Amino acid sequence: MNRVRALPLLLAFILAGCVATTPAHSEIPAPTQKTSTTAAITPVPIPAPTVATFDMTLHSIDEADSLWVVADKLRRLKPKRYVPSDLKTINVPHTYPPALRRDAARAYIKMFRAASKDGVNLVFQSGYRSFSTQVSVYNGWVARLGQKAADLQSARPGYSEHQTGLSVDIASATGGCTIQACFSKTAEGKWLARNAWEFGWHMRYPKGKTSITGYAFEPWHWRFVGTELAAELHLTPKITLEEFFGLPAAPDYAR
Ligand code: DAL
Ligand code: ZN
Repeated sequence: MNRVRALPLLLAFILAGCVATTPAHSEIPAPTQKTSTTAAITPVPIPAPTVATFDMTLHSIDEADSLWVVADKLRRLKPKRYVPSDLKTINVPHTYPPALRRDAARAYIKMFRAASKDGVNLVFQSGYRSFSTQVSVYNGWVARLGQKAADLQSARPGYSEHQTGLSVDIASATGGCTIQACFSKTAEGKWLARNAWEFGWHMRYPKGKTSITGYAFEPWHWRFVGTELAAELHLTPKITLEEFFGLPAAPDYAR
């Protein structure tokens, strides 16, 4: 029983013990003779009820090097050529150089091992991307799809979470669907959707939230926010960081 639920019982118990000898719901009538008013009643200090609340101000959502930084089409990284100071390259199956900020790197390794134990083979597709790498990635999408469609897939340089070193695109070693919505149907995609939050990861671009995030469904893109915030976010299916922190929807870049 939790603390809040236990409190009414505790109060009833204390009051019953201190001021009444008859159970509250007893059918025995109360005695008619006067009871002594001199008997001392020792006041029992009653603790104030405490309700655990999540501290949404624990980390900045504005600073590029903050664990909770929110980057979207209306929230460019500052400075726009930000480079994290604690990047680590990790030894896991990968497609592109597997680098993330230190805590995210540790959390990825833990998650990778847990998935392996469950027979699920995660492949590190793309983690930290510098401003100049994002220039190439974004321009590549524009060349392939045109700018309008590219903007639904790829962040413009200076606006990508990948530049924070806190995001990773994950692929499946066996199931195909790399960087496609059908990744959510692979064993790896399903495992991540069920378990990634326990390791501090959050699905940043959920299905049906393009009008808020500005991006299509990306079941492969996971953002490290730490285990406390990931657990809090996990309580509300498909919640976005914009919704959680009460930020404006960012469907498009400011003109
Ligand atoms: N695909 C995500 C939105 C990025 O390029 O950062
Ligand atoms: Zn991504």
